[in-house]
Amino acid sequence: MRIDLISIFPEFFDVLDLSLIGKAQREGLLSLHRHQLRDFSFDKHRSVDDTPTGGGAGMVMKPEPWALALEHVLTQPEAAAAEQPPILIIPTPAGEVLTQRAAQELAQAEHLVFAPGRFEGIDQRLLDWAPEHFQVRPMSIGDYVLNGGESAVVVMVEAITRLIPGVLGNPESLAEESHADGLLEYPVYTKPARWRGLEVPEILLSGDHAKIGAWRAQQQEIRTRKLRSDLWAKHVVAREQNLT
Ligand code: ADE
Repeated sequence: MRIDLISIFPEFFDVLDLSLIGKAQREGLLSLHRHQLRDFSFDKHRSVDDTPTGGGAGMVMKPEPWALALEHVLTQPEAAAAEQPPILIIPTPAGEVLTQRAAQELAQAEHLVFAPGRFEGIDQRLLDWAPEHFQVRPMSIGDYVLNGGESAVVVMVEAITRLIPGVLGNPESLAEESHADGLLEYPVYTKPARWRGLEVPEILLSGDHAKIGAWRAQQQEIRTRKLRSDLWAKHVVAREQNLT
């Protein structure tokens, strides 16, 4: 997968060189490309924002530097060779909320481009122009407001890229983790069996894998019902329709 990240703070994405995503890049499973948005602004101050037309607080990002940066990405060999236009993800609290299902779908893509805005957002005409060249997806990471989209991009890139085959050391952990099947994960324990007076549930020491599996499935249900009644309601409906 190729990922292009365009921002006035491209250093924000340096954390993506660490840990498993850094390793995935070194192994060639993933190529991340950072771009400084100001490199596509040609006035004296390399400015990327201006006052809102019609008045109001704050500043609005100008469409032209964004269009030039995005056109630059489109000239890259991966984009030029692809059958489908790249997916352009615009982080915004007004977007579709990222779910595990959306992450799974986006993990199949060949080319993602992230365009995190700052200030009051990007001029609407950039969003009206972009669908001619990209599959545009405004996306949110939750119902709260960040200072800019960069931290949301880090969250999205991590949620998506860990699902690319080969990125995680042990692919089995994907099948068992929270949200993989619409339920929260069961509680986990390690050694010692007794710690500060607290015991590991006895069944986990039994060596009976069928019983352990059944206990874990039951724990998933108990936890989800207690902590996330919204997910539990969806699970019950899906189960009734025989989808799970
Ligand atoms: N930019 C500001 N807030 C955001 C959010 N919650 N999700 C994605 N991008 C954002």
